[in-house]
Amino acid sequence: EKNISVGLLGLGTVGSGVVQIVEGHQEELVHQLGCGVTIKSILVCDVEKDRNVQVNPATLTTNPEAVLADPEIDIIIEVMGGIDEAREHILRAFKAKKHVVTANKDLMALHGPELQYAAKQNGCDLFYEASVAGGIPIIGGIVDGLASDRIEKVMGIVNGTTNYILTKMDDEGVAYEDALKEAQELGFAEADPTGDVGGLDAARKMAILARLAFSTSVDLADVEVDGIEGLALEDLLFGRQLGLKMKLIGFADFQDKQIEVSVQPTFLPENHPLAAVKNEYNAVYVNGKAVGETMFYGPGAGSLPTATAVMSDVTAVIKNMLLGVTGQQVVTPRYDKVLKSPEQ
Ligand code: NAP
Ligand code: HSE
Repeated sequence: EKNISVGLLGLGTVGSGVVQIVEGHQEELVHQLGCGVTIKSILVCDVEKDRNVQVNPATLTTNPEAVLADPEIDIIIEVMGGIDEAREHILRAFKAKKHVVTANKDLMALHGPELQYAAKQNGCDLFYEASVAGGIPIIGGIVDGLASDRIEKVMGIVNGTTNYILTKMDDEGVAYEDALKEAQELGFAEADPTGDVGGLDAARKMAILARLAFSTSVDLADVEVDGIEGLALEDLLFGRQLGLKMKLIGFADFQDKQIEVSVQPTFLPENHPLAAVKNEYNAVYVNGKAVGETMFYGPGAGSLPTATAVMSDVTAVIKNMLLGVTGQQVVTPRYDKVLKSPEQ
């Protein structure tokens, strides 16, 4: 039986989940693909570190070339995070004709078009389902599921850390700092959580979704951003007295070929479906001209949910490899970008 070898860049929250799925779900992978998947080598910062998954120590390395230049490795899974080094490693992987799966929204929001171009030039796949809304297949939902529709609006909760903090504060009276610490311990927050609480992580995801949904270029700088830092229990209590719940809402709208994208803390009526989304869960409405309103819901952060999205991309890449085709998660821009002006 054929085995596809993959290289893993990173063995933290998401990387550990990938190892668990590759080891625990080999039967499902073989059933889906007709071949097995092996993690041949893993790039980390510290090979001596205690890990919460068991890996063969011989697979661990601090030398990127040991992974990126290995001719037996067909697919690179980038789950190390950060921007510059991750970008360099991915470009290097394409040069070596390796396909790439990434969970890195920081990178895709900033350098997505450049990386997609490099992938295409080298005949490689670049998939990034896990970069938005953890385990929810929202990118596949937009790119494949709603491919024939004209999407007009994308709106919802796309950051697990802030939703976890807001839920703990509102339901259990936990202080902001303590709730953030819990979210970090559970592996939901980024290495630097200021991007989560400041709304930047959600803004990156909304830029990626808006690009795909509206077939137009959207840069991070186009997203109006506000976060939840500094929010006090009293603010939520005030809302509760009025029958309202605070959520960090991402909003992207496309009307008359003009786009508007924002991330804002928003009070919603208690009976609004998004008000019932708790903890690290995310939920995203996608409104299409033909389909009407759809809602995608599920775990938006965490080890196994995110790793599930990563591994679904890996299976998509392997299916493409077996068919001898490439098919990226990319929608070629159809429209020039026109931002809705503030006074409209
Ligand atoms: P993490 O727990 O901090 O793990 C990062 C891993 O990468 C660690 O194993 C670390 O090595 C390794 N690493 C980092 N920089 C490196 C470098 N310069 N050279 C070699 N190895 C390096 O991060 P994570 O939470 O798994 O997130 C990884 C990526 O997935 C990020 O892009 C994040 O935004 C994205 N993501 C995360 C989640 C989530 O719920 N956590 C969800 C969706 C997407 P050591 O272990 O030796 O320190
Ligand atoms: N830090 C991110 C979040 C991880 O809390 O949503 C998932 O992208």
